[in-house]
Amino acid sequence: MEKFIQRVISIFITIFLFLHLLQAKHYDIDRQPPRKLIFTPHKRSDSDPQQVHISLVGKDHMRVSWITEAKHVSSNVEYGKVPGKYNAKATGEHTSYHYFLYSSGMIHHVTIGPLEPSTTYFYRCGGSGPEFSFKTPPPQFPIEFAVVGDLGQTEWTSSTLSHVESRDYDVLLLPGDLSYADTQQPLWDSFGRLVEPYASQRPWMVTEGNHEIETFPIIYPHGFKAYNARWLMPYAESGSTSNLYYSFEVAGTHVVMLGSYTDFDADSDQYRWLEADLAKVDRNKTPWIVVLLHAPWYNTNTAHQGEGEDMRKAMEELLYKARVDVVFAGHVHAYERFTRIFNEKADPCGPIHVTIGDGGNREGLALMFKTPASPLSLYREPTFGHGRLRVVNQTHAYWSWHRNNDSNAVVADEVWLQSLSTSKSCRAGFDHHTSSFLNDEL
Ligand SMILES: [Fe+2]
Repeated sequence: MEKFIQRVISIFITIFLFLHLLQAKHYDIDRQPPRKLIFTPHKRSDSDPQQVHISLVGKDHMRVSWITEAKHVSSNVEYGKVPGKYNAKATGEHTSYHYFLYSSGMIHHVTIGPLEPSTTYFYRCGGSGPEFSFKTPPPQFPIEFAVVGDLGQTEWTSSTLSHVESRDYDVLLLPGDLSYADTQQPLWDSFGRLVEPYASQRPWMVTEGNHEIETFPIIYPHGFKAYNARWLMPYAESGSTSNLYYSFEVAGTHVVMLGSYTDFDADSDQYRWLEADLAKVDRNKTPWIVVLLHAPWYNTNTAHQGEGEDMRKAMEELLYKARVDVVFAGHVHAYERFTRIFNEKADPCGPIHVTIGDGGNREGLALMFKTPASPLSLYREPTFGHGRLRVVNQTHAYWSWHRNNDSNAVVADEVWLQSLSTSKSCRAGFDHHTSSFLNDEL
């Protein structure tokens, strides 16, 4: 009897090892262990700008944000279309914050404009330090968004960023988890310096992830202290009362940044704001709606199962009725693309869901996917990389996903999307308040 039991156990172990080897073999090429953290030091003078990044504000303005160690630096930006010649100047505001023993530098935010579309501007912050430049987005299609989540500051982050930069783009979208500072405030500064060469040249539009929360009982109960001070987004301009959710429009695309880590129920400010925001979109002028949030509503990875479920149940119908085209999420450190979905079923009028949490964080990849694969999940792979959404025209956009280990020309996953605003069958069932949208159907 004992021998029989031993035999059964050894058969089980053999089967387990065989299945494990199969799984490992499947991901052998893609398996990428975490790489070490990069700390980017401060090398300029205390009054020079550091951590410079830009973000879109309204139709034709840009917010320039930077930090100085020195406290006497004025919050102004000089800018113009010729290097070294600044024929315009704007003044803004500054803030700072404390987190236990850490005191931030002076955090400057200056909005400049009006600016011309598709134009390169040269600028200097606070009358000191190096000159920077950026290019404004185009006024209409085509426009290219780079999409990267869970970025962090490791050698994989550098790999992702150099990959992103190797092909031009107009706006970067980040669905949460930026620095992975996780209360170590100097890591926020290091992250700002790491991304400056990229984020000072193209607008970076971000929303928060769980690594931005940084609450501490009684002392910092509300969290997001560093995130809100450093990564100010155009929430006020979009009618939101919180930096944790907002929207903006660029080149025929309405981008909604939602907050997975603030209230989202039907009686919440975020819900009411989202309802009003979606109702204002004129799909004739702005045919595309793209939504970003952190914790995915659909996920077949074994990591973070069900974490976006409450938010999905609360808000999915709003997005569905507004005929949102795509939902990008992060959080799960892998890539996954779903078909069009509503209420856990394939639905031609629902958004495509994409998880793009494979930017390069220090925690490594989420290697295990549930088996068998759900028929809703069309592509899934645990590899560091980034995505591109090229909105070609009113009707079509091209989504591609690029691995860090391939050249940028290699497309690991791709799909052509048709805007739901131009789908007659979806518009016929459209139950929405936007009269201009409905008028077009008559
Ligand atoms: Fe996360």
